[in-house]
Amino acid sequence: MKVTVVGTGYVGLVTGVVLADMGNDVVCVDNDPEKLDKLRNGVSPIFELGVDELLRSTIADGFFRVSDSIGDGTKHADIVFIAVGTPPGPDGTPDVTAVKAVAKEIGRNIDHYTVVVNKSTVPVGTVDMVTKIILEQGCPQDMFDVVSNPEFLREGTAVWDTKNPDRIVIGSRSPQAASKLQELYSPLEKPTILTDPYSAELIKYASNSFLAIKISFINAISRICEEYGANVQDVAKGVGSDTRIGNKFLQAGLGWGGSCLPKDVAGLIKIAEQSGYDFALLKAADEINNDQTHHFLRRMEKRLGGFSGKTVALLGLAFKPNTDDIRDAKSLVMIEKLLAAGAKVQAFDPVATDNVRAVWPQVDYKDHIYDVTDGADALVLVTEWNEFKSLDLNRLGACMKQKVLFDGRRCYTKANADRAGFEYFTIGS
Ligand code: UGA
Repeated sequence: MKVTVVGTGYVGLVTGVVLADMGNDVVCVDNDPEKLDKLRNGVSPIFELGVDELLRSTIADGFFRVSDSIGDGTKHADIVFIAVGTPPGPDGTPDVTAVKAVAKEIGRNIDHYTVVVNKSTVPVGTVDMVTKIILEQGCPQDMFDVVSNPEFLREGTAVWDTKNPDRIVIGSRSPQAASKLQELYSPLEKPTILTDPYSAELIKYASNSFLAIKISFINAISRICEEYGANVQDVAKGVGSDTRIGNKFLQAGLGWGGSCLPKDVAGLIKIAEQSGYDFALLKAADEINNDQTHHFLRRMEKRLGGFSGKTVALLGLAFKPNTDDIRDAKSLVMIEKLLAAGAKVQAFDPVATDNVRAVWPQVDYKDHIYDVTDGADALVLVTEWNEFKSLDLNRLGACMKQKVLFDGRRCYTKANADRAGFEYFTIGS
C-alpha cells in the first residue's frame, strides 16, 4: 500500500520504517532539513534499537523515502498518518497546533480517496476537528475519512512493539476507512479493536494513565514496606501473580517519567475536568509520583547528614534504559535538588549525557563508568541500564570516600552490596 507518515519523531519514524519493512511504499515527511538529511543517509535522528538497520534496508529496497512536502506525501498515499508532536500546554491540555497545520495542508492536497489517520496522542474529538479542517479546505467529504489509530509503542523497544502490538485500535465511523487500515495491519495478525473515534482516542489516554496508576500504586506500597521492613519486590510478585492483576508495571522505583506518561496523565486529568469529572484517583497517582524521588532524596539526605559539601555519583540519566531521552527524567529532579543543596554531582550514562549536559553543565560527567565514583560520598542508581546490573561493585567502591549505595531502581541486592562493603538503601525495603 502507499503510505505517508507526517512527523518523524519516535512514533512517526518507527511506524514508517516498520510499514516499509512490511513491503509498503512509505514516504516520511518532516520539516526539519537536518533530520531529513540524516534519514536520507540511513541514519536515525533518534536513539532507538533497530531503527538504523530498518532505515538502511528499506531505503536500499526502495520502500522508504523522505520528503519535506506534506502535499507530495498526500498525493502519494492511500493512507496518511499524522504523527506530529502534541506537547502539553501550560494547563496540561495537549497542544494540537501542529496537528491542525498538518490537517490543513493535507486538506489542500487530497486528489483521490484518502484515509487520514490520527496516530499522535490527541484529545477526544480530534477526529472531528481534523475532518472539519480538511472540509474547510474545499475537499469533498467523499474523498476522505479521518480515523483514530493510537500507538502503544514504548521508547527503547519501539520497533519490537510496533511489530508485535498486543492490539490494534481503530476508531472510525467509516467502514471503508476501517477496512483499509485493517488491510494495512493484516500481516501483523494481531487482534483489532474496532470502535468509534471518541473511544479510540480515550483508549490511549486510559491505557497510559492506568499504567501510571499501577506504578504509583506499587510505589505507594513501597513506602509502607519501608516502614514495616517488608520487601516490595516480593509484594509485587505476590500481587502480580494474580492473573487478574498481572505482573507488568509493578516495578517500584523513583517513579514514572518520559515524554508520555506524565503528559497523558496531565492530559486525561484535563479531559476529565472538561467533561465535568474530577479524576481524583489520577491526581493522587500524579502526586505520589511527584513525591517519590523527593522521598528518596530525603532518605539520602538523612543518611549523609545533609548534601552540602558532599560528592554524589549518579549512575544513569535517561528517563529509562535503552534511550537517550531525558524528558521528565528523575535524574533531572535529583541534580536540581543536589546542586541547590550544595552537593557536587558526578554522573555517567551510556547515551544520555550530552542531553543532560545541555541542561546542567555544572555536573561533572564521566566518560568511563568506573570513574563516576571518584571521591564520592554516595552512589545513586537512577536508571536501570542492563550494563549497570553486572558492574563490579568492589571496583566502584574502591575510590569512594564513603561506601553508601542508594539504589533507586532495585537493581542490586543487599547481599551483593554487603559483599562489596557497601551500606545499601533501596526503594521499598
Ligand atoms: C509509554 C507506554 O508504555 C507506551 O505503551 C506508550 O505507547 C508510550 O508511553 C506513548 O504514549 O508513546 P514509554 O514512555 O516509552 O511508553 O515508557 P514506559 O516503558 O511506559 O515507562 C514509563 C516510565 O515508567 C519510565 O520512567 C519507567 O522507568 C517507569 N516504570 C515503568 C516504572 O517505574 N515501573 C515499571 O514497572 C514500569
